[in-house]
Amino acid sequence: MNTSPRPLGSSTVSVGPLGLGCWPLAGMTREGVTRADAVATVRAALDCGIVHLDTAYCYGEHGESERAIREAIGGRRDDVVIAGKCGIHWDRDESCSPPRRQVSDASPGRLITEVEESLGRLGTDRLDLLYLHAPDPRVPIEESAASLKRMQEQGKAVAIGLSNASLDNLARFAAICPLAACQMPYNMLQRDIEHDIVPWCRTHGVAVIAYWPLMKGLLSGTMSRDRVFPVSDSRHRYAIFQGVEFERNLDFVDALRPVASRLGCTVADVVLAWTAEQPGITAVLFGATSPDQVQRNADALRCSLDDDARQAIGLAIRDRGPVPGRQRV
Ligand SMILES: NC(=O)c1ccc[n+]([C@@H]2O[C@H](COP(=O)([O-])OP(=O)(O)OC[C@H]3O[C@@H](n4cnc5c(N)ncnc54)[C@H](OP(=O)(O)O)[C@@H]3O)[C@@H](O)[C@H]2O)c1
Repeated sequence: MNTSPRPLGSSTVSVGPLGLGCWPLAGMTREGVTRADAVATVRAALDCGIVHLDTAYCYGEHGESERAIREAIGGRRDDVVIAGKCGIHWDRDESCSPPRRQVSDASPGRLITEVEESLGRLGTDRLDLLYLHAPDPRVPIEESAASLKRMQEQGKAVAIGLSNASLDNLARFAAICPLAACQMPYNMLQRDIEHDIVPWCRTHGVAVIAYWPLMKGLLSGTMSRDRVFPVSDSRHRYAIFQGVEFERNLDFVDALRPVASRLGCTVADVVLAWTAEQPGITAVLFGATSPDQVQRNADALRCSLDDDARQAIGLAIRDRGPVPGRQRV
């Protein structure tokens, strides 16, 4: 994998090809991830040279992800790139299990409050990259963009990004606020953004940051066919983890195994290396819940795909066919 630093748009911030996604650290994918696990996972990433830490105001009902990052980095603030997000928070909802639901509110006042709180939890005076987490249909995106631009001017964010966006969102946002990065779901089987978002970002000099590279663990190569997701595991809701779709996805993973073993890599390494080398993809964020997962995924930095591997992967993707379901949050 090419490990050279990649600038985020025309900003002064650069990142490596892999970043640590800090959503699962808050026990939001599955419960049972302790604070000690979270801190050790972030430290393992730093030890592997992965310093791009992707978090958000809503990663944890009470900022658990941001608090773990603060504890993990200690005095190493200047060695890491902290990417945060604002515009989504949790509300209590007793009709849900667990009793909470995500709410979008990208009104300027709310965004400012969330960023102040995030900076406090992280123990820092600035985010290196601050995204609007998702456009809020009730707030003109220009108002949200202007709010982020003001925060950048005040030094609370070095670079600004937009996540979960349409082309129209991107164009309207960028007309108000210098845009450095766009964060979208992207992996071997969910490639919608290649048709619109990636070309737009390449034309406009905006970095593309890919999330869900491992399809929430499905493409890690270690998920067993009899895996049962309890109600507390958010994966039970996704069609990709159910019935025939789950089977077909695991058949696809099996088709990657010979590629991985010929290269002396794991399936997760091959998946991450392939994702990171796709045209227009600037960086790839993998989530992890343990130091061991981080260390295994960081080996992808040393995984080099050759033409035979690319061809075999292309055939496996073709044979898998389209994956149903929503590809954007
Ligand atoms: N902008 C947005 O709206 C948005 C949305 C989603 C995600 N993101 C960002 O993107 C990051 C990545 O997404 P994600 O964390 O949801 O999904 P992901 O990276 O596709 O999958 C992460 C999950 O895969 C499993 N895993 C990781 N490495 C593994 C390994 N080597 N072996 C076995 N299992 C492994 C872990 O699950 P278990 O240990 O539980 O099995 C982990 O929680 C997030 O953490 C977040 O920072 C952003």
